[in-house]
Amino acid sequence: MSFFIVFLLFNMNQNYVNSTISYRTPLVVGNWKMNTNLDTSLSLANYLLYNKKLQFKDIEVAILPPIPFFVNVKKLLKNSNIKVGAQNVFHQLQGPYTGKISALMLNSIGCDYVLVGHSERRFICKETDDDINMILKSIYKTNIKPILCIGETKLENELNIQRETIKIQLTKNLNGLTAKQVQQMIIAYEPIWAIGTGLSASSQIAESMHLVIRNLIRKNYGSEIADNIRILYGGSVTPENAEELIKCADIDGFLVGSSSLNGDSFNKIIDITRDENNFSNYLL
Ligand code: PGA
Repeated sequence: MSFFIVFLLFNMNQNYVNSTISYRTPLVVGNWKMNTNLDTSLSLANYLLYNKKLQFKDIEVAILPPIPFFVNVKKLLKNSNIKVGAQNVFHQLQGPYTGKISALMLNSIGCDYVLVGHSERRFICKETDDDINMILKSIYKTNIKPILCIGETKLENELNIQRETIKIQLTKNLNGLTAKQVQQMIIAYEPIWAIGTGLSASSQIAESMHLVIRNLIRKNYGSEIADNIRILYGGSVTPENAEELIKCADIDGFLVGSSSLNGDSFNKIIDITRDENNFSNYLL
């Protein structure tokens, strides 16, 4: 084993980042959407406690239960390193907004991550790019890290304008954010035609879109931020396609919907992500 490989192995668990080499810890996020009740939330969270890979520092896992069960799930996982996040948040921090939940509230219950701009929020709940920008700005008033979802529709894909779509979304969603703020976020590329359809993007297509995103970040915020920001793939991720996807150099983990509702499948995706990530996330 060469000195170089020993050097890489030594640093694998260190979350090591400097100007010559950086490592993006892979992140697997389970988005349970509106699909669990209290019992199934706790039982799914419990599955994760039996996953031996989660004791390693070179994989990070977060789950996003429906808000009514957040505190119960958080309590169950309190002695683990599994993160717990929210699926949505309103852009105002406080006030007469019946039914809304603010980033301050989420922060007060120990929320680690919050999804922003998921396509179901964009299309069903009519959240605009400007709304998403305001939501991001409110999250940065707390310690929560946003996971910004972007992705093109089936039509945009057919018209071959997916790169332009991503560029517009990123430009509008990140408008006015500082480089430091962008550095703290996670981006999830989720082609809308792949969400919940069983039609995942091929690894070649996903990798090429991740590269487009990373290069846009590079152009606007510099190489250090681009090299360190984690870009997840989402859209019909399963234990069957996770291996090929995670081997791609610019795919740093997954945002998983349907497969996160099955404890075995989700654990398998986590195991594959940790084991097959290899050194693809090391940048020299
Ligand atoms: P899916 O959902 O894995 O069921 O396609 C992904 C998502 O909505 O984030």
